[in-house]
Amino acid sequence: VSDYDPRLVALYDEDNPDGPDHDYYRALADEHDAAAILDLGCGTGILTVTLTRPGRTVVGIDPSPRMLEYASDRPGGSEVQWILGDSREIPSRRFDYAVMTGNVAQHIGDPDWERTLAGLRAALVQNGVLAFESRNPAGRAWEGWNHAEQTVRQTTHGPVRQWSEAREVIPGRVILTSHNDFEAAGESVLEELTLSFREREQIEQQLIAAGFELDGVWRNWDRAPFVTGAALMVFEAHAA
Ligand SMILES: C[S@@+](CC[C@H](N)C(=O)[O-])C[C@H]1O[C@@H](n2cnc3c(N)ncnc32)[C@H](O)[C@@H]1O
Repeated sequence: VSDYDPRLVALYDEDNPDGPDHDYYRALADEHDAAAILDLGCGTGILTVTLTRPGRTVVGIDPSPRMLEYASDRPGGSEVQWILGDSREIPSRRFDYAVMTGNVAQHIGDPDWERTLAGLRAALVQNGVLAFESRNPAGRAWEGWNHAEQTVRQTTHGPVRQWSEAREVIPGRVILTSHNDFEAAGESVLEELTLSFREREQIEQQLIAAGFELDGVWRNWDRAPFVTGAALMVFEAHAA
């Protein structure tokens, strides 16, 4: 299995900085007085470390060794328990809050996605809360990811020339190819991701099948109710 290039991991936070999405996930933790939090697909750990509080346990899981290495080395990293793997590696401890942020849900293809939801349900106490977002297929976000135009950004590894292509190979499944030319090293790094765009109804059914009850589907980070055609879907559910 190929992993993220460490030079690109370092750029990830720059492209996905802290913002209203992280505020939402943090607020939910406080609202539910969460004492044990699971961040599945934690990536660089940018949100994970900010969830820590005295007396609270925070666990970050990710299948990418490069991501986890970066996460555990970041400031505050020693306050989190980092686990390499996916939903099958969730420790048997009981959590009262679990998140999947940065569209992790879309990075998990079927049937792994259903196994992931079942694993999350098993990891939560009764009434434990699950929150995550996924892009609405109706928003056709991938159409905006075809950047034939190349941009050059300055990094600690010198200039990197970047461009990307995205195509929907079958309805709801998108392959995103990102090109990264490290010009000083004369190296090209190709990153290919398969993203699942699931319909709201499908995710709701999958949540219920996994043993969750739905608390809301939002179209933004202020918890405005979802409306047909909204680009974003934020799911909030609890373990039934
Ligand atoms: C777009 S990143 C989001 C990272 C982080 N949650 C954030 O908000 O910045 C997607 C992450 O999902 C992870 N991932 C991929 N497949 C996964 C799986 N089956 N289970 C859990 N995480 C997975 C990737 O390794 C990657 O770190």
